[in-house]
Amino acid sequence: MAQARIGVIGLGEFGIQHLRCFRQMGYWGEAQLVAACDNNEELLEERMAEFDFNGYTDYEEMLDNEDLDGITVVTPDYLHKMFVVAAAERGIHVLSEKPLDVSMEGCREMIEAAESNNVLLQVDFHKRFDEYHIAMRQKIEAGDLGEIEYGYAHMEDRIEVPRDWWPEAAEKSSPGWFLGIHFYDLARFLMGGANGTRVWATGVKKKLTSLGVDAWDSISAKVEFDNGATIMFDSSWILPDTFEAIVNQGIRMVGTDGLLECDSQDRGTITCNYDEGMATHNKSFLRERYDKQGRQIFEGYGMDSIADFARNVNVLLDGGTVDDLGEYPDGYDGLEATRIGVGVHQSVETGDLVDLTEL
Ligand SMILES: NC(=O)c1ccc[n+]([C@@H]2O[C@H](COP(=O)([O-])OP(=O)(O)OC[C@H]3O[C@@H](n4cnc5c(N)ncnc54)[C@H](O)[C@@H]3O)[C@@H](O)[C@H]2O)c1
Repeated sequence: MAQARIGVIGLGEFGIQHLRCFRQMGYWGEAQLVAACDNNEELLEERMAEFDFNGYTDYEEMLDNEDLDGITVVTPDYLHKMFVVAAAERGIHVLSEKPLDVSMEGCREMIEAAESNNVLLQVDFHKRFDEYHIAMRQKIEAGDLGEIEYGYAHMEDRIEVPRDWWPEAAEKSSPGWFLGIHFYDLARFLMGGANGTRVWATGVKKKLTSLGVDAWDSISAKVEFDNGATIMFDSSWILPDTFEAIVNQGIRMVGTDGLLECDSQDRGTITCNYDEGMATHNKSFLRERYDKQGRQIFEGYGMDSIADFARNVNVLLDGGTVDDLGEYPDGYDGLEATRIGVGVHQSVETGDLVDLTEL
């Protein structure tokens, strides 16, 4: 079996998860972490001290010098396109972090670049890999809910994310782009690929502006889908530092014959200590263990979603086609989630109901 030769671009807060994923795939002979790039030299050196790869500050140099089969893009939300297109043009498969892009034109450009160069374009929508969500979808597909009429989803970060991690980037992003997008996609996944048709959304700027960060605190959106369902999506990143976890998240759906509810954060483990107080843990997303050789291993849907990309690349390297890959979040899923995101932000800015089919 092929072992995809992988490069990673963007080695910040989440880029480290990509490095962990491909390092351990190397232990198992599934993929090779060959190279990685970050234009922050200090951070690059820090990562190179922990992981074994050829380091670059210039992504084009990395793409041109290394014989890569695939790259993953883990730069800020609004900065995915140039890396995706540059890789596609060189015949290199790509996994982009979510959202694929913050504009419809950007997504379309990436899809076009991937299709015309015959490369895989995948999006890291990891909520699709959460076993609880997969079980929800199986119930929905089995007809347990009948026809879905309405639903509700929320994803909320503690305030440290926009306030401490990256305030400048937060001003260029929003809770809708950073968090809401996960659940715009998850709703589509659960409803068998239903697409958004109309949206009305509101946003509030209060808490973060009072702290000197000019970013939306929260965005609430009501989205109508082409299967007749309407889903409410709340996203925010102003939960108090004392909240029980870094993220709060969940989804419920109600149909003609039943309902489903999922707490996507609290999976039943509660801890309490003097530093953190009470805490709940989503160990489905990420959990750490050491294998028999004493090597650090990370597991959970956060890893599965990234690993799925390398496994897909392996299938293609072994002579398979895109049809052999089964279901995976592709460029069109990225586009449809972005369509909702664009509509949400347009509605927040204008106060109007937005027709998503016209975007
Ligand atoms: N799937 C998830 O659960 C999840 C979680 C967090 C973030 N994300 C996504 O991951 C992406 C990155 O988020 P983050 O929190 O890691 O941000 P971050 O700011 O911590 O990291 C981004 C990195 O990209 C680097 N970068 C920027 N421009 C570059 C360039 N031209 N060349 C090379 N490197 C460059 C920066 O130096 C930085 O180290 C975002 O799209 C975000 O939405 C996904």
